[in-house]
Amino acid sequence: GDNVHPYALPWAHSGPFSSFDIASVRRGYEVYKQVCAACHSMKFIHYRHFVDTIMTEEEAKAEAADALINDVDDKGAAIQRPGILTDKLPNPYPNKKAAAAANNGAAPPDLSLMALARHGGDDYVFSLLTGYLEAPAGVKVDDGKAYNPYFPGGIISMPQQLFDEGIEYKDGTPATMSQQAKDVSAFMHWAAEPFHDTRKKWALKIAALIPFVAVVLIYGKRNIWSFTK
Ligand code: HEM
Repeated sequence: GDNVHPYALPWAHSGPFSSFDIASVRRGYEVYKQVCAACHSMKFIHYRHFVDTIMTEEEAKAEAADALINDVDDKGAAIQRPGILTDKLPNPYPNKKAAAAANNGAAPPDLSLMALARHGGDDYVFSLLTGYLEAPAGVKVDDGKAYNPYFPGGIISMPQQLFDEGIEYKDGTPATMSQQAKDVSAFMHWAAEPFHDTRKKWALKIAALIPFVAVVLIYGKRNIWSFTK
């Protein structure tokens, strides 16, 4: 295609042994909850996933309790109730058809795995969210659609979502458009790869052991073969 290549950004978590910036992931959840959750589900994430990863148990319980979860009562009637840790993050639409109908025919995709699903990963998500531009002369953009050169084809059914000071962060970080894009990308990557930090911690431990193992093997080998000298 002729779409623009995303920026290559210096993510805190992109090195072979580096971990997520948890403060950024937490802010990214605030962006997801206040902006993206109006249209996008994250069906693989349950509130319990937040416990001891990006929140305390109390904080995660409070987040769940703050959400309205669709359920049925004893008699099978539809109700809404406050969430608990074992609930999924709520889906904004009852089904894909309703999701598409509310968005000019394009259903907003689930964001649970989106940070890893698209070519360019976190860099793509950041570039997409900050990449809304006026359409070049001759490019027709229908109502409800927008021009974004990072989106394959350049015309996207998601209008620009992030604006400077569009939300307010609990930790007082200035919520510029790019700060929100960075944080929500980090949150989406955390959601897509919950064992990322554990995996890299083990990689570091094993890498640190290799020199010792090498020394033992080399001297062992010399000892075993010493009779040939
Ligand atoms: C598509 C992220 C908010 C409606 C997407 C895609 C991503 C994304 C990564 C997929 C693009 C692709 O297919 O390559 C986000 C984030 C949001 C957000 C991080 C919050 C900051 C919203 C909101 C709405 C919305 C609030 C509805 C008003 C859509 C629609 C699509 C889409 C309709 C499909 C676009 C198409 O296929 O043309 N979004 N989104 N998004 N989003 Fe969002």
